[in-house]
Amino acid sequence: MTEILRVEGLQKRFGGIVVSDNIHLTIGAGEILGLIGPNGAGKTSLFNLISGVLRPDAGSIFLNGQKIDGAPLYKRARMGIARTWQNMLLFRTMTVLDNMLVGPRDYAGESVTRLAFGRAGVRAAEAAMRARAMGILGRMGLESTASSMVVDLPFGQQKLIGLARTLMNDGPLLLLDEPMAGVEGAAYETMQRVVRQEAASGRAVCVVEHNVSFIRDLCSRAVFMANGKILQDGTVEDLIASATLTELYFGV
Ligand SMILES: Nc1ncnc2c1ncn2[C@@H]1O[C@H](COP(=O)(O)OP(=O)(O)OP(=O)(O)O)[C@@H](O)[C@H]1O
Ligand SMILES: [Mg+2]
Repeated sequence: MTEILRVEGLQKRFGGIVVSDNIHLTIGAGEILGLIGPNGAGKTSLFNLISGVLRPDAGSIFLNGQKIDGAPLYKRARMGIARTWQNMLLFRTMTVLDNMLVGPRDYAGESVTRLAFGRAGVRAAEAAMRARAMGILGRMGLESTASSMVVDLPFGQQKLIGLARTLMNDGPLLLLDEPMAGVEGAAYETMQRVVRQEAASGRAVCVVEHNVSFIRDLCSRAVFMANGKILQDGTVEDLIASATLTELYFGV
């Protein structure tokens, strides 16, 4: 399996709390890695370190073998680290389509496209972006919501739109922070299908999720974190079977 992400000896502390304690992790192309652990374990912090929201105190992060530690958030997004946010961060009073068109990986209007091809080039690039957005919405059965205001849609659809917007970035690494929280029924099925398709297309996917059956359905490998440490990295079955982890996580 081609390695997409490698994290080596990642260390991060907030005052007295160690959120990343010597984290070592790899994710390969086509893999869906589950990341589970109790509240406050450091899962979102790990995503923040990988995507460039936070700077580590020590350790290194490699994307496709290239060290990316020094790159800011926007550059890492351009390099192809796409992520969703635990608390969504959609523009609630904008349309679905406008949400999709805000800040994809390379936005033509601001880029070299204008220099290279002039205004017509920008228009063509924008049309392509729009077509891409409609294609992604279509895959999720959400075409008809394109001109709706996000705030007017049911919660499950809003979560799907959070994923849809993230997929505007088609880079090699996809980080999903609790995509299923509060999602059920048809939206749940769609979420599973789309995440599988993304991995099948060769992306490396990491999913943080408290819904263990979602992880079991989707992932062959999972990592268990608590207190900033990775306590186990192995098959989902082994992880669920581990008495220590079960006690830490489920309190039984
Ligand atoms: N910017 C910050 N400043 C100070 N403390 C922080 C910051 N971000 C996170 N923390 C703390 O770090 C710890 C880990 O938080 P994190 O959000 O990574 O946990 P999590 O595993 O994602 O939990 P949950 O399952 O509840 O989302 C928590 O104790 C949190 O309060
Ligand atoms: Mg979190």
